[in-house]
Amino acid sequence: MSQSNQKSLLQKTSTENSCLNFISVKDVADINGMVSKALSYKANPFLDRHLGADKRIGLLFLNPSLRTRLSTQVAATNLGMEAIVFNVDKEGWALEFEDGAIMSGTTVEHVKDAAPILGQYFDILCIRTFPSLKNREDDYSELVINSFMQYAGIPIVSMESATLHPLQSLTDIITIQENLNKFPLLEKRKPKVVLTWAPHVKPLPQCVANSFAQWITAWGEAEFVITYPEDYELSSAYTKGATILHDQDAALEGADFVYVKNWSTYTDYGKIYSNDPAWMLTQEKLKLTNSAKVMHCLPVRRNVELSDEILDSSNSIVTQQAGNRVWAAQAVLSELLNKQ
Ligand code: CP
Repeated sequence: MSQSNQKSLLQKTSTENSCLNFISVKDVADINGMVSKALSYKANPFLDRHLGADKRIGLLFLNPSLRTRLSTQVAATNLGMEAIVFNVDKEGWALEFEDGAIMSGTTVEHVKDAAPILGQYFDILCIRTFPSLKNREDDYSELVINSFMQYAGIPIVSMESATLHPLQSLTDIITIQENLNKFPLLEKRKPKVVLTWAPHVKPLPQCVANSFAQWITAWGEAEFVITYPEDYELSSAYTKGATILHDQDAALEGADFVYVKNWSTYTDYGKIYSNDPAWMLTQEKLKLTNSAKVMHCLPVRRNVELSDEILDSSNSIVTQQAGNRVWAAQAVLSELLNKQ
């Protein structure tokens, strides 16, 4: 499936460099095109086995991962690329990102020096970085990923940044579409997709929820409802176009897909206010839905965020969802390779 003469499914949004990047839904010109491409790779993983021949991809981890790390590696290998993983947090020099920093503390190497070198070693560079959850302004400035975009000079792929998780969100839409293809709705209507907050034992980023909201609203092919306890509002930059309810039962009514995810507070940043276990999804609550498929990005805290009875039931599509991470990554990398 050589795409070189076809219309690009990605678009240039950054003024910082001349590369195509994959940082948010804004980098995608055609979401449904990306979904189709991913599903064609799922049907035939080696369709473009030579596209990335003699190309190298760097996967830089400033934070832990299981799915993102391995699925991106598998996707790159399916396209014939060599993938090199570097756990910067454990094996690299401590990086400095502040412009003009006097580096007399713990940081050893400035991103201004490191990123252009990585740009010479690799053809595509993927970065995972989490927010500090201490200072909202700093986290939402996306300094880490923006610095790599500014200084590396090659395409940058976010494997989750301080505020967004675009590979996860593309996967989520692929999974919803795949289920709709297999089990079309009986009535002629858009599927009802509910993103529900769930309890957790520690404060988590808003990335997955921000990103899912951003992608689903941009996709425009679902009735989208977000439900969370008072005080857990997300940035309106991502939730515009969604219906927001604080009554979880009302939100779940007639849902076709329920996406379960915890996030910490946005306004009084990075806190856990209430951790009401009543917000955990159970089979009893699922009775309110249209026998909804249940989604979660994983890892999941069993019987805190989601009950065993749901995760081990036929309603759960979390394994299918995580499996689809490969095809989302492969579609994105293939688009970037076609533009090199
Ligand atoms: N969903 C997700 O990004 O999983 P990992 O943190 O294991 O990569």
